[in-house]
Amino acid sequence: MKDFLRLLADQGKLSKIQKKLSCDIEISSVLERFQDRALLFSHVSESSLRLAGNLYGSRSTLALGLNLNEDEDLLRHIADCVSRPSNKRGAESSFEDSAWNHNVSCDLTKLPILKHFPLEAGKYITAGIVAAKLPGNAGENLSFHRMLVLSKDRVAARIVPRHLDQIASSAGSKKVPISVIIGPPPAVFLSASLQTEYGLSEYKIANRLMGEKLELVSSENSDIYVPADTEIVLEGNLDYSEKVREGPFVDLTSTYDQVREQPVITFDRMHYNDDSVYQAVLAGSSEHSIFMGLPQELKIREALSKAIPKIRGINLTPSSRGYFHCIVSIHKTNDGDGKTAIMNCFAASHPLKLVIAVDDDIDPFALDQVEWALATRFQARSGIVLIDGARGSSLDPSSEKSAVTSKLGLDSTLPVKAERTKFSRAMTELTPEASSAISEIESSQGAETGA
Ligand SMILES: Cc1cc2nc3c(=O)[nH]c(=O)nc-3n(C[C@H](O)[C@H](O)[C@H](O)COP(=O)(O)O)c2cc1C
Repeated sequence: MKDFLRLLADQGKLSKIQKKLSCDIEISSVLERFQDRALLFSHVSESSLRLAGNLYGSRSTLALGLNLNEDEDLLRHIADCVSRPSNKRGAESSFEDSAWNHNVSCDLTKLPILKHFPLEAGKYITAGIVAAKLPGNAGENLSFHRMLVLSKDRVAARIVPRHLDQIASSAGSKKVPISVIIGPPPAVFLSASLQTEYGLSEYKIANRLMGEKLELVSSENSDIYVPADTEIVLEGNLDYSEKVREGPFVDLTSTYDQVREQPVITFDRMHYNDDSVYQAVLAGSSEHSIFMGLPQELKIREALSKAIPKIRGINLTPSSRGYFHCIVSIHKTNDGDGKTAIMNCFAASHPLKLVIAVDDDIDPFALDQVEWALATRFQARSGIVLIDGARGSSLDPSSEKSAVTSKLGLDSTLPVKAERTKFSRAMTELTPEASSAISEIESSQGAETGA
């Protein structure tokens, strides 16, 4: 992660905070106010380590971390690397070659782990990536899991039923060795958030994203590999036979998630050095939305590209955390395309609750245009798709306990043969005289306001 921090600093995109602040609610309140700005807290009351947050608060910062130029399409690049992962996970070396202090038993009190919101159960590791061995010789599975600190070497991890759950469940009563990665290179951070097929190590995607330059080192007590350029590594065991109360914790929706029984991880080793930077993600922030939304957007894009001939754009709206509401702008060639687009979005991304389909003269990112299209083109009698009792997200507080939800589609597209002049937005025409009158008004307004 250090190279990325240097890059951000060189480009003036990293604010360094010198004031000493506390892990207890204080740092999170600053992260909340500057969500699209990378922040480095140089002095933390409870720890000698520095803390970085909001590192990927905008897609352009993520693109920078992936070494993309401004004009390169981030989503297309990621989709390309996902569809053609590297054959290798990365160059491997042994633990002895790592840059961390060796033989350090775990003491989580040394790390600047945050309590983010007042009613949360305690301190939470929020940017921890769990690396666990896949069956066969397939390498490591990577996934994010929030961790409630229980003691200096124990945490409760929230594990939704995906790949880590599959690995742990198939281990039966045996403990599962894991390593937790905090502060890896950007490509590994992104890859861990992707929802790949089971059995594919996310390192192979990261290695492709990094132009085959990913370097891995072995953990000390297991053959689990972690990126060499990682700030902090914790080694331990995940135990499904021991479950404790986990929560309340504020999640993506910025609401307190329900309290659940979740498994315990016990750590026996901790690797870092004096210069290490602890990384935190503020739940519900723009950074969180980016990494939760991107995997969904990839799936929606893929499904739509097969179903609809031409797509102008897809907007997983920021207010819905890039997760629940989607606006898709399409070029229709068949009268059913609007509803087909809506169905494909819902099928591709289970958290979606609302999909609005608009014609390709509407910019899906301009919400005023989208609402105008609803006002002038949409008829509830024929344009609504309503699905009840479908799979939703456990993050939605309004869904039923088993994450069952209702879904609403609004087809605001016109019939293919609709008379366009009736529905197009009328525009005035600017003559040279009108242009100069406008300039005069603008300059006189400037003079009045002293601009
Ligand atoms: C910042 C962040 C926090 C997350 N927290 C959790 C979590 O606490 N529990 C969980 O099961 N998934 C969490 N996720 C989602 C998973 O990490 C994500 O779905 C991942 O792709 C799963 O990996 P898998 O496909 O290998 O199962 C989080 C994702 C992000 C980006």
